[in-house]
Amino acid sequence: MVAMCGIVGYVGPRPSQAILISGLARLEYRGYDSAGIAVIDADGHLGLRKRAGKLQVLRDDLATHPMADGTTGIGHTRWATHGGPSDANAHPHLADDGKLAVIHNGIIENFAELKDELLGQGFTFRSETDTEVAAVLLGREFAASGDLVAAFRTVAARLEGAFTLLAMHQERPGLVVGARRNSPLVIGLGEGENFLGSDVAAFVEHTRNALAIGQDQIVAITPAGVSVTDFAGNAVDVEPFEVVWDASAAEKGGWSSFMAKEVSEEPEAVANTIRGRVHDDAVVIPELSGMDELFAGIHRIIIVACGTAAYAGMVGKYALEQWTRVPVDVELAHEFRYRDPVIGEDTLVVSISQSGETMDTLMAVKYAREHGAKTLSICNTQGATIPRESDAIVYTHAGPEVAVASTKAFVAQITALYLLALHVGRIRGVLSAAESAAHVHELQGIPGKISRVLAEEQAHIEQFSHWMADTQSVLFLGRHVGYPIALEGALKLKEISYIHAEGFAAGELKHGPIALIEPGQPVFVIVPSPRESAELHRKVISNIQEVRARGARVIVVAEEGDAAVLPFADEVLRIPLAAPLFEPLLAVVPLHIFAMGLATAKGLDVDQPRNLAKSVTVE
Ligand code: G6P
Repeated sequence: MVAMCGIVGYVGPRPSQAILISGLARLEYRGYDSAGIAVIDADGHLGLRKRAGKLQVLRDDLATHPMADGTTGIGHTRWATHGGPSDANAHPHLADDGKLAVIHNGIIENFAELKDELLGQGFTFRSETDTEVAAVLLGREFAASGDLVAAFRTVAARLEGAFTLLAMHQERPGLVVGARRNSPLVIGLGEGENFLGSDVAAFVEHTRNALAIGQDQIVAITPAGVSVTDFAGNAVDVEPFEVVWDASAAEKGGWSSFMAKEVSEEPEAVANTIRGRVHDDAVVIPELSGMDELFAGIHRIIIVACGTAAYAGMVGKYALEQWTRVPVDVELAHEFRYRDPVIGEDTLVVSISQSGETMDTLMAVKYAREHGAKTLSICNTQGATIPRESDAIVYTHAGPEVAVASTKAFVAQITALYLLALHVGRIRGVLSAAESAAHVHELQGIPGKISRVLAEEQAHIEQFSHWMADTQSVLFLGRHVGYPIALEGALKLKEISYIHAEGFAAGELKHGPIALIEPGQPVFVIVPSPRESAELHRKVISNIQEVRARGARVIVVAEEGDAAVLPFADEVLRIPLAAPLFEPLLAVVPLHIFAMGLATAKGLDVDQPRNLAKSVTVE
């Protein structure tokens, strides 16, 4: 079976192979364990090539054994869930007669019974995948009606689970048909050519005009146009939108990796998320106009997210509670809906997702809506599913994030949460205009301060991360807003350097984790500013002494001028002065650089770490 994958489709006047391959290259973040394409050539023959391994394997194969090109094509890059990455399990899959090709993202839950039905009718299969069942079913229905859209309608009604399916038939060149349920698909509108993709990255180098399609819809593209219907065959309205970034934003430029480029873009990610949302020192979020009454009436906020986005949510909780006085819970999206949470009309459920496609988060949002809560999505991807399923959207404007480990999106998510907190805090009368303006100024100063961290600490961090290439385990300690930053520092290290890493609340140290400390154990400590809370600062300094006394190698992240850390630190990473709530936006930067430095020192692929995918579209 196949779950998280990248999908691209093309019809138009141009040879499609190069278009498919470059689209897949931009979607490779979604999965990269096998890839394949199918094209209908000038003779009306359907050609297929698919290979286990990264896209480069397919590229090399096509270069050494060229395949006839054609102007109708589909392509796929895969992240396997069940059934290992092999040539046979790679997509596209063919219908029984070999004339129809299908690509798929998602899981067809009832594939076993459908397969039994088809086996009973004498059909045969070449792979163990659920996708091939959809291909054979579509082939059977097309043979009966000769109408690919009608065949999709019949088949979609039979499938259970989540799927995006694209198909083409060699007797219908110039036509690619797709269907989606709980899995992403967007349309790209060109001139005399049209595209389908898992997201706009698939076609942004050709067109920035896109159409978002809804759940349970079928789309047919030809060179001349696009038609969208629901599963019953009724025409539906589709939402056009313009992609706000251009293709170069999703390219590596001169950087050694996407991750290096994206860390360097953290200042702009914050600045662009603020841009257009501050007028006369006040936060104005145009997307939220008309929602004042709702914000005034809520009694509870629940943030749902996964991975890095959940840590951004944990940082946001401090600002939201302080500035709005609304109680905030942060929950991992996959835990949220299985515990019968107490939610209702006065609950605002805020989801955070870079991709806007994370299935766990999507399901939490749907659950919240079904149970009467209002939903607000903080998302970095236009046209994605989670914002479409939410009552309100605040986009982060971090630009396309390609490296699997999230970096610039994280600081943009915190920025968006802070803007939301200031907006709601003013509406609820908790913050005065002057207080809000002071926070706005602080936030506006953050991009410049992140740039300073990058300029002043990057070389230093890369150097000592090199010395640490043999490290087996790293611990991260933080308190208050430094706690989620410790969690994020540990996650980043696990994700890309495969080193055991744990983040702890520093106060929890003596309740267990201190038993882990032995001579030489590297421990990162995020030290809060002594200016606002001398007590918190003192306590963290005590924690440093405790681990130091047991032989730990201590690396501190502390503000400029904090001399109290010097006697106990093996390395000091400096961040500029900022108000306490804003420190996470600075303190995380050295941790991102460190994770990258260590993975690079170990010779690992920082952009495409093993076993992971950027967009996790299965539960
Ligand atoms: C995956 C990625 C993580 C990411 C998480 C949430 O697990 O590997 O890096 O933080 O998904 O992704 P989202 O797109 O919802 O922010």
